[in-house]
Amino acid sequence: MVSGGDRVASDAANFLISCDLMPSIRLLPPSVVNKIAAGEVIERPASVLKELVENALDAGARRVDVTVEQGGVDLVRVVDDGGGIAPDELPLAVATHATSKLETADDLFRVRTLGFRGEALASIAEVSRFSLRSRQPDRPAGALLEVVGGQAGPVEPCGGPPGTCVEVRNLFFNTPVRRKFLRSTQTEMGHISESLTRLALARSDVHFTLRHNERLIYDLPASNDLLARVALFFGRELADDLLAVESCDGPNRLVGWVARPSQSRAHPRMQYLFLNGRHIRDRALQHALGEAYRGLLLTGRYPICFLNLEMPPDEVDVNVHPTKLEVRFQDGGRIYSQLLGTLRTKFLSTDLTHRLDPAGAAGSDGASEHDPEHAAKLRSELVDWAKGQLAARTPASAVSEPEAATAVAPARQAVLDLGVRLPGRPLELNPVPREWLPPAAESRPEVAPSNSPPSAFRVPPSASVAPVRALQIHDRYLVAESDEGVLVIDQHALHERILYEQFRERVLSGALESQNLLIPEAVDLSAADASLLMEHRETLAKLGVQIESLGGSTILVSSYPAMLAKLSPVEIVRAVVEPLAAAGRTPERRDMIDELLHMMSCKAAIKAGDRLTDEEVTALVEQRHLAQDTHHCPHGRPTALVFTRDDLDRQFKRI
Ligand SMILES: Nc1ncnc2c1ncn2[C@@H]1O[C@H](COP(=O)(O)OP(=O)(O)OP(=O)(O)O)[C@@H](O)[C@H]1O
Ligand SMILES: [Mg+2]
Repeated sequence: MVSGGDRVASDAANFLISCDLMPSIRLLPPSVVNKIAAGEVIERPASVLKELVENALDAGARRVDVTVEQGGVDLVRVVDDGGGIAPDELPLAVATHATSKLETADDLFRVRTLGFRGEALASIAEVSRFSLRSRQPDRPAGALLEVVGGQAGPVEPCGGPPGTCVEVRNLFFNTPVRRKFLRSTQTEMGHISESLTRLALARSDVHFTLRHNERLIYDLPASNDLLARVALFFGRELADDLLAVESCDGPNRLVGWVARPSQSRAHPRMQYLFLNGRHIRDRALQHALGEAYRGLLLTGRYPICFLNLEMPPDEVDVNVHPTKLEVRFQDGGRIYSQLLGTLRTKFLSTDLTHRLDPAGAAGSDGASEHDPEHAAKLRSELVDWAKGQLAARTPASAVSEPEAATAVAPARQAVLDLGVRLPGRPLELNPVPREWLPPAAESRPEVAPSNSPPSAFRVPPSASVAPVRALQIHDRYLVAESDEGVLVIDQHALHERILYEQFRERVLSGALESQNLLIPEAVDLSAADASLLMEHRETLAKLGVQIESLGGSTILVSSYPAMLAKLSPVEIVRAVVEPLAAAGRTPERRDMIDELLHMMSCKAAIKAGDRLTDEEVTALVEQRHLAQDTHHCPHGRPTALVFTRDDLDRQFKRI
């Protein structure tokens, strides 16, 4: 037997033996050096796009046209109208450590350009079939240089407009291992779009276009209005919810837009931070952002921002990360305070009350949810239902699909499943078609007592349901009397749990109804989120969410779960994308469905703070029997606390 100590000793001996066998040290050939460098700088097609567009911007381009094929794996072409490269300098442009952007070592500490290392083109040309065509504006013709896997051909004269065109084909064709790490076209395209988004947000004064497989994805005319560009990428809804911020601290200027707390995400990827026009990632600044929103956002939610920090280049070291994504500030504390202070001051001077979107607030029957008459009507229907008066009405199954979406009475019947309730609105009735109810339950008239909901989770006939005496307190808890004692129920948690069970059962039995939109709705997302959704399209279809890509960052929603009918397609798609993004790119399909079901039930459930009518309280409390395990909501919080009569008697010293 080998003891632990012996094993360590023998491992060490093996290591020494393998060291003995190690070949002698030698200089790596330039092609290997370049491939190693390429590995650091060029991870995927999106990195190629970034480097090429940065070069175009450094060359003073006013217009940059990007074309990609197969997510950039087959082709990334960037054409600019910048200053161009002299024919005799083309070989230098693709040589390692050759740059026009630095002269002395000191220049490294006052970098005013996006590139400065002189290694991007060399790295790209090492791992692709590369061509560089360039013409300076004052020359009658241009020149062309082709490089295949690091082997440069001769410089040849060529025509073409002033500016530069770089084509990168078959990325990683000579490094198959690297190529294997590439993901689906959709995913790579998501990265490409995200990369272009960052560059285009940093430079709204430049005209950008992006084409994928001949299809125009973005056409972003130059404008000095960053907000207009944000709206093009992420939709008007978000742009309208942004607050302008600006502050100066000595030579440092912070300028841009931050979202109202009503707009947040489950991930920090919508925090666009730029330093002198360079997209950066900075943990300290992200932290400052989080601090500024402290108390304004729920735990796990992240703010959204589009902020540029302008500062003297010698105050920051941009040479600390291979792709220059991270930087080191000379006085990080000062910038942290500036960001935090600017945002806090802004929030203090702004009315941050949530503004309801009037379009989204329109009811399914076209009446405004804020209309008191409409609200009263809904409530009286609910009361009718509670009194069992709706039981005799037309079954929802007799209503055709478009009507089902708008018909009020049949939808009200389904409140039995306790439908969606939006903040500040009366408890909404779920448009759950009656055919969702299990046939067995349907055919048992005796289990539809006048005061109990005919839901899929109806109490089994054998179970005796004593009428519940219950009371809502603080608009969030329900206090109910039971045979055993007193129950204090968290109204949101209980409703969420009930809906979760219902959703799950329907998904498992393949009976989750989706509601087709008469007019599919386009939803603008970030490019990365759009491609993430497209990747999980089939799973989403299982959950009743039918989507299609309109290209770029726009998704077309053609149907979604009927149980979520009171949410707008935008709300649903956003809510769906968040757990996906938070779960990473390859969550287990089952976990993902479960996660989405949690999200859907949470969204659909009534909230703490929603005042309920007595009938609504009764309906909800009666439903506590209907789910198998109502003691915990899907997030694991208890849904109810029980004080038994014995407990009470003991506390009051009766026993
Ligand atoms: N689109 C372009 N227009 C004009 N000149 C260009 C263009 N692309 C590259 N160049 C020239 O080629 C040189 C090498 O480009 P490359 O991207 O390899 O290095 P860099 O931009 O200097 O530094 P980095 O490696 O940090 O990007 C640049 O310094 C620039 O002079
Ligand atoms: Mg460069």
